[in-house]
Amino acid sequence: MIGTSPTTKRIALLPNHVAIIMDGNGRWAEKQGLPRLEGHRAGVENIRPIIECLDEYRIRCVTLYAFSTENWDRPEDEINGLLYLLEEALDKEVPKLHKRGIRIRHIGRLEELAAGPQLAIRKAIELTKNNTGITFSFAFNYGGRIEILDAVRCIIAKGIPPENIDENLFNSYLYTASLPNVDLLIRTGGELRISNFLLWQAAYSEYYFTEVLWPDFDRKEVEKALIAYSQRQRRFGGL
Ligand code: IPE
Ligand code: IPE
Ligand code: MG
Repeated sequence: MIGTSPTTKRIALLPNHVAIIMDGNGRWAEKQGLPRLEGHRAGVENIRPIIECLDEYRIRCVTLYAFSTENWDRPEDEINGLLYLLEEALDKEVPKLHKRGIRIRHIGRLEELAAGPQLAIRKAIELTKNNTGITFSFAFNYGGRIEILDAVRCIIAKGIPPENIDENLFNSYLYTASLPNVDLLIRTGGELRISNFLLWQAAYSEYYFTEVLWPDFDRKEVEKALIAYSQRQRRFGGL
């Protein structure tokens, strides 16, 4: 389905790159008296429909924050549950994403993940690398500060002279190298912070915060965020 619906036509200006902090899974479950992991399950199930919806709007890149470098501080049970859900979801969803021409990337420290999920992510990247549809970057074990430090370490290790380091070069050492800057950054779940997500890439993003918990964030909510974006005036410091 290509973006020719009346809604698509109504939205005058669409972002190129949408990033989402998928927050609120735990509270979604707790509200219904369910274990937190059920919220994560519902959250994971919401990923493909939202990517497909953004694809229908012909958005070129979507980056989803699924697990931060700080999330290791959670109880072991929750972490193990999340990793299990990740592997299960990759098995089930990647063939469908591939069929749709979606290109999957990972951002974060992949090498720190256990062998199972790590391999599943590597396979997904390999399978979809030549696809030309929306680029879906999956942020798992991602931290904005560690990303910047990893880039600095790499630049120093390569012996690049300080005078050669400019924004373009630095950008090319980030996990997101070759992706455009984030135009619209959405956070579900009501918190008004970015929790170490895309610190460099979102320097001039438009921010959209919603109380809606991630498992409830549906097509209508996507549309609301896109309409809000289209009404913003981006100045980038100019007039
Ligand atoms: C977001 O949901 C998913 C992860 C951070 C892994 P949370 O688990 O943070 O849900 P809340 O914020 O506790 O409701
Ligand atoms: C941010 O959510 C990370 C992800 C959604 C993956 P958190 O729930 O971890 O963030 P804080 O702790 O509220 O800042
Ligand atoms: Mg949270």
